[in-house]
Amino acid sequence: MPVSAEIARRRTFAIISHPDAGKTTLTEKFLLFGGAIQTAGAVKSNKAQKTATSDFMEIERQRGISVATSVMGFDYQDYRVTILDTPGHRDFAEDTYRTLSAVDSVILVVDSVKGVEAQTRRLMEVCRLRNTPVMIFVNKLDRDGKPPFDLLDELEETLKIRVRPLTWPINQGRSFQGVYNLYSKELNLFRPTKTTRAEHVVAVRDLHAPELDAHLPAADVRQLRDDVELVEGIYDPLDEAAYRRGALAPVFFGSASNNFGVQELLDTFVALAPAPIGQPAVSRFVRAEEPAFTGFVFKIHANLDPRHRDRIAFVRIVSGRFERHAFYLHTRLGRKLRFANPTTFLANDKSVVDEAWPGDIVGLYDSGQFAIGDTLTEGEPLVFQGIPRFAPEILREVVNLDPMKTKQLDKGIRELTEEGVAQLFTQQPGNRKIIGTVGELQFDVLAFRLEHEYGARCSFRPLSIYKAYWLEAESPTELRDFVARRTNSIAYDRDQRPVLLADSQWTVNALKQNYPALNFLAWNEPQ
Ligand code: G4P
Repeated sequence: MPVSAEIARRRTFAIISHPDAGKTTLTEKFLLFGGAIQTAGAVKSNKAQKTATSDFMEIERQRGISVATSVMGFDYQDYRVTILDTPGHRDFAEDTYRTLSAVDSVILVVDSVKGVEAQTRRLMEVCRLRNTPVMIFVNKLDRDGKPPFDLLDELEETLKIRVRPLTWPINQGRSFQGVYNLYSKELNLFRPTKTTRAEHVVAVRDLHAPELDAHLPAADVRQLRDDVELVEGIYDPLDEAAYRRGALAPVFFGSASNNFGVQELLDTFVALAPAPIGQPAVSRFVRAEEPAFTGFVFKIHANLDPRHRDRIAFVRIVSGRFERHAFYLHTRLGRKLRFANPTTFLANDKSVVDEAWPGDIVGLYDSGQFAIGDTLTEGEPLVFQGIPRFAPEILREVVNLDPMKTKQLDKGIRELTEEGVAQLFTQQPGNRKIIGTVGELQFDVLAFRLEHEYGARCSFRPLSIYKAYWLEAESPTELRDFVARRTNSIAYDRDQRPVLLADSQWTVNALKQNYPALNFLAWNEPQ
């Protein structure tokens, strides 16, 4: 198959939601449709990540599960579908943001009872930043939720995106009758079922045809006719280009656990969602069709077997054909590397692959040479953009509790921060190590893993730092002067870029006024 055909059939995306809206359930139904799993219940919800308590053992166990399920590929119709899993808990939001840099679109799941929740809004902000195309699945229609028109208004207002319903619910809660597919003009009647596909589809050419009454109670028929008229009156026909630019979200209604409205979503998704286009690098935009292979690391996972120190780097292929055993340039290290056992994650199984295409995710065994954001090419010194590091909100100093294990501690901190568990900043003089995270839970994970994987013990001393900001200036002298004047509140990130450790919002505001030529950045991208 030519490259363009391989690219055209790929759909690489993430399902995102506020915890408990039904992301895991919907993922599982997709996998059932794709034949990647045979029974419901095969995909475990990351319950540990949902709890606010820090149950380390559970996190460790779940981490194991999430390696297997963090990339799920399957063939559906003529498409190669790849779903990237994202953790739901806010404390792991960074991991989610990074994963979103490796997808071409997302499906956002919203609970019809709760509507738009905090995490939904935050995730949507990230999608907006990158103009990621979004489809929305309003879930749990088998419960008494908010009225659908209210939900659509809420979606538009709180998520700041135009919406266009493509299915319409007929009643909800206990009297939920099914969904009318506004796109294919078919009526899909609701017969609750946990595992099988909902087969009861009635094609309705004309909503005013009398046979509709044979399928639905008269009141529901009237309501459906009125609703559809209203929908067509309020909303413009689907503008596919607007969806692809991230300006308009098609909306579907259904019930994931009852497998209802899911096939409508999946069928429309594969038909409408964008195939890989390419990715901006610092020097230029790299198009998916370019013949030379390029890709970047968006996730690193520790090997589950504690006897082996190696890790798996997840590489998103941006352009060209990736080949097993070929030499590729690791642009940060300036070294050529080859990979004997690259793996893909088809049908929930890991297997070694000989080649892979744009949109695919390959897992590369990594003995410490990779960090998040690293780029691989056939020789061009590219660096891909779009993997932001977020300004950490909690900063603590590392206190070594076992001086005999200093080396192990240093190595552990270096490797775990490369893996993206947290961010490391170093302050001079004294090589003071400061760890920054977006959530409390990350410190627990770090301490636990340092002890169990590296045999090093440490604690984290709270610092009175409000936030860290990356510093940027047009003129290097300006930046150097600022850094020299404020050494006490300057630290360096892993790329030796200066970061201001600000003690309050007030300080930041004052500094912004006094140094108009400096930029104080809340996130940071490769330059
Ligand atoms: P998440 O990954 O977004 O966190 O959500 P998940 O799929 O784990 O679903 C959260 C809860 O919502 C689960 O219940 C799940 O069964 C339920 N759920 C998912 N889809 C629907 C739906 O369409 N209707 C209704 N009524 N419930 C739905 P749980 O009690 O937490 O777990 P379980 O015991 O059912 O597995």
